Amino acid sequence: MRILVTGGCGFIGTNFILLMREKHPDWYLVNLDLLTYAGNRHNLAHLEASPKTGQGGTYVFAQEDICDPEGVTSLLRDHRIDAVVNFAAESHVDRSINDPSPFVTTNVQGTQNLLECARRHKVQRFVQVSTDEVYGSLESDAPAFTEETPLAPNSPYSASKAGADLLVRAYVETYGLDAVITRCSNNYGPYQFPEKLIPLMFSKAMRDEPLPIYGDGSNVRDWIYVDDHCRGVELALLQGQKGKAYNFGGQAELPNIELVQTLLDQLSKPHSLITYVKDRPGHDRRYAMDFSLAARELGFAPQVTFEQGLQRTLNWYRNNTSWLEKVQSGEYRDFMNQWYGERQ
Ligand code: NAD
Ligand code: TYD
Repeated sequence: MRILVTGGCGFIGTNFILLMREKHPDWYLVNLDLLTYAGNRHNLAHLEASPKTGQGGTYVFAQEDICDPEGVTSLLRDHRIDAVVNFAAESHVDRSINDPSPFVTTNVQGTQNLLECARRHKVQRFVQVSTDEVYGSLESDAPAFTEETPLAPNSPYSASKAGADLLVRAYVETYGLDAVITRCSNNYGPYQFPEKLIPLMFSKAMRDEPLPIYGDGSNVRDWIYVDDHCRGVELALLQGQKGKAYNFGGQAELPNIELVQTLLDQLSKPHSLITYVKDRPGHDRRYAMDFSLAARELGFAPQVTFEQGLQRTLNWYRNNTSWLEKVQSGEYRDFMNQWYGERQ
């Protein structure tokens, strides 16, 4: 199989490429990534150094923008691509509140460009990696989101992802493109940029800095270990039914405060590092996923418990402090300083 993976230098894309390379050494993988602040080519440098697997598989990196028709078309044509898996996105809610514009450009226009290029090139399968956040927010006693839950995004990030999902639907209905959508809950694991909750709290705790909790810390997220999400995307790619959306979740709903307290306990750091800061505007109360459709049709089930996943993740960050330091330099640091400065 010859696959164009977009956003492969980001958190989930990196983990997906590493897992697929291991599981399918015969796959030809092209990683298209613009290398924004969130993309790190170094994550997969060892694959660039040894691109061939010995079983016919190859890895190719291309620095391109998903919004560029010529760049995408050349890659589809030159590498005779069969399938596209679109991870590329602006992915952080706080940044989308600060400036929605790049979210619309990359997540909406970029996805439309990929869809159009895929349609013209006649790719056999398009997987759009979306999020539970397109469904909006749940009350504490409400049933989990199903694929039938109406889309009701609340942040510029989730609105841009919902817009992309609707464009995918339109390309299926109007042009017959063979596309599926995956919607997953909060991921955690190695290579996650330290703007998201778990790596941010790890990095602050290790430096004995205050850990900023938005609001009262009672907002709930459902956590899934990144490899479980990647296995879900693989299943959707290989077995998903054209035009369908599939929910994936980790069966690990936790209030933010409980998660952060557990993390501090694991690191033997005091809870007194926790600082409550001004709430995020439009902060979704709770996400929870009903993934029975994916279980029934794709055989999906998360394999890693939250306890196992957190242990693995913290071990990885402990052993890769240089990775954290590298990605924490430059633009990221300036942006986050400004952001937290405003919220104290
Ligand atoms: P990330 O921010 O870590 O990585 C995004 C990657 O996309 C980066 O490598 C970046 O360089 C690249 N990129 C950004 N704009 C681009 C452009 N215009 N052209 C080409 N590449 C571009 O994001 P992530 O957490 O790995 O998320 C990947 C996907 O999964 C996103 O679509 C996100 O919406 C979705 N998702 C994420 C989560 C989560 O918890 N992180 C949960 C559900 C769904
Ligand atoms: P985040 O990792 O940004 O993911 P998302 O907003 O996409 O769910 O945040 C996870 C939860 O943690 C969310 O409820 C917001 C909260 N949060 C904090 O309390 N403090 C922080 O510094 C961050 C980044 C997030």
